[in-house]
Amino acid sequence: MPRPIIEPFRIKMVEPIRMTTPAERARILGDARYNLFGVRAEDVIVDLLTDSGTGAMSAEQWAAMMRGDESYAGARSWFRFEETARSLTGMPFVVPTHQGRAAERILCSVMGLEGGVVLSNGLFDTTRANVEAAGARGIDLGLPGALDAHRPFGGGFDLEALGRELSEHAPRVRFVVATVTNNTLGGQAVSLENLRASAALCRKAGVPIFLDACRFAENAWAVRRDEPAERGRPLLSIAREMFDLCDGFTMSAKKDAIVNIGGALGVRDAALAARIREELVRTEGFPTYGGLAGRDLEAVAQGLHEVLDEAYLEYRFAASAYLARELEAAGWPVIRAVAAHAVYVDAGAALPHLSPDDLPGQTLVCAMYLAGGVRTCEIGNLMFGSQGTRKQLVRFALPRRVYTQSHVDYVGAVARDVAAVARRLPAMRVVEEPPSLRHFTAAMAPAAPFPEIPA
Ligand code: F0G
Repeated sequence: MPRPIIEPFRIKMVEPIRMTTPAERARILGDARYNLFGVRAEDVIVDLLTDSGTGAMSAEQWAAMMRGDESYAGARSWFRFEETARSLTGMPFVVPTHQGRAAERILCSVMGLEGGVVLSNGLFDTTRANVEAAGARGIDLGLPGALDAHRPFGGGFDLEALGRELSEHAPRVRFVVATVTNNTLGGQAVSLENLRASAALCRKAGVPIFLDACRFAENAWAVRRDEPAERGRPLLSIAREMFDLCDGFTMSAKKDAIVNIGGALGVRDAALAARIREELVRTEGFPTYGGLAGRDLEAVAQGLHEVLDEAYLEYRFAASAYLARELEAAGWPVIRAVAAHAVYVDAGAALPHLSPDDLPGQTLVCAMYLAGGVRTCEIGNLMFGSQGTRKQLVRFALPRRVYTQSHVDYVGAVARDVAAVARRLPAMRVVEEPPSLRHFTAAMAPAAPFPEIPA
């Protein structure tokens, strides 16, 4: 018997979870008008809404926070952040931002996007919104059928399409975004081979390529494990090559820097860096603190060191694979992507009595909450509106270093109980919605009452 992969942490600070009853949860969900973003966190038993900003910081990170230098300009904490970010990414110019979308907004505002297009293997929603707000169109060029195929590196670019779009739209393509890992396509990784080829196409076309580096460490681990030519290569060297292939990066530090708030933007070009600093001063803060406190810069710097620990990444991939097996054993069709930060369930396939406009993803989200206080997130027609043949997914995202195997076992058991009543789960209807980003605040109601879900 192979030994189980051990979680390379022990716990020395705890937070109690408040247990709720099915009757309480029915009332709470009704009060939140069936929108889980409206439920108080303390009314959730296991919170898998997102892996963003929800990680547990290490003792070293908390210690570093106590050392935070809060000087306005030239703080010691800034130099620690800058040195870490520069040596990891090789980018000569790096600035802190309060989170990833601030970096995206600044980049989009200095790149002259009006009337242009931005190409990507998969733009995250905030990146797309920033591209559009700056007057350009975002075009996704992920691999066709990426959510259906069982292959590693389903997160990469469709290289043929990228080459075609680069030549067809040549003067209008302002830049290309390589998102690692590809959150909008099941969190799948991008191979170095694909990233090298994409960067080469961009270089040939004279178009800059930026890395959306939120989950760079998880991508590096997938490369090392699953890309034959890279097997066993040091993680730092793989991560560095990912950055080396690009002209700059945006990063939400709330993911792989394992902090609760923070971000960064880095570029190679000095003139571009000057424009970025100008915009940063106007909207985020002086370039040596961005939108952050000195203590936040310390936590990011320390987190960037910790995240490339092999034992940590091995456990993280093992944990999401374990969750995927639990959900599959419960009878739910899981997108068989090799992803670390989340497991995605195909709710459309799981609830065939519901059409995409019946919002089967939201049905499953509500059922997981009613049955066991588990909070997950719909990624389907509620989030994106009725369009195309988008899959109706539910994302079970794993916060970093927060939950143990017993929590995942509990989620598996709740999923089993929900599966037992799957055919009787009702459609969901939107009864009130805002003009945009409706999934955050829309009010919903089930078309018929939810059945009792016995434990
Ligand atoms: N890029 C990707 C790939 C992301 O997943 C996110 C955030 C961002 C950019 C924006 O970063 O939140 O710091 O402004 N994703 C979170 C999620 C919200 O739940 O997947 P941010």
